[in-house]
Amino acid sequence: MSIHINAQKGDIADTILLPGDPLRAKYIAENFLEDVTCFNEVRNMLGFTGRYKGKRISVMGTGMGVPSISIYVHELMEEYGVKNLIRVGTCGAIQKDVKVRDVIIAQSASTDSFQNRKLFGNFEYAPTSDFELLLSSYNEAKKKGLEVKVGNVFTADSFYDEKGDVEMMAKYGILALEMESAALFTISKKFDARALAILTVSDHVLTGEATSSEERQTTFNEMIEVALDAALP
Ligand code: HPA
Repeated sequence: MSIHINAQKGDIADTILLPGDPLRAKYIAENFLEDVTCFNEVRNMLGFTGRYKGKRISVMGTGMGVPSISIYVHELMEEYGVKNLIRVGTCGAIQKDVKVRDVIIAQSASTDSFQNRKLFGNFEYAPTSDFELLLSSYNEAKKKGLEVKVGNVFTADSFYDEKGDVEMMAKYGILALEMESAALFTISKKFDARALAILTVSDHVLTGEATSSEERQTTFNEMIEVALDAALP
């Protein structure tokens, strides 16, 4: 057991999908996996292990923001030896050619979180996803005919009020805003694990366009299939 996860060693698969919302973890387990067992209920941050196309995989919520995901992924890797971590979440687009319902695969994640500055001191670290996971998820998304973009996202430390200079971010190629990937990519490197983030565009920061809950569910399902097929080739 770790401080925030009350699973036994061996209860969690080498590969895990990480939605922010623990009820999304439950939804994935119930709709995509077989032989499911629940391995965590601490703080209602539900975690499940099951089988997808016969292969063992886990899914667990991370909560929102850098501190929350950092705690969970650290414990998943340090205590349970998890080796492949794929965030499946939403983001707000900031480029004109990125549309709501598009899928974004994060190649890297810029951030205004102070966590990495504290860690690295006097240089700027570039949190980067795993190339093999990125490539296989890109190929899966294309195979499924999804509108997919690959690039830099921005892991913001706040959702309200302080979006930073969105125009500047867009000019320098950032595709969308979200709140967890930079921490996931950085901490995964520390544990020599592979990490990726696949994100559906839930809203457009420039135009204010947003998806309905039905649309979010459909795109979410498509993204989960991409993540599962990429994670367990
Ligand atoms: N900011 C941060 N995270 C998000 C957003 C946003 O605008 N939209 C969806 N996740």
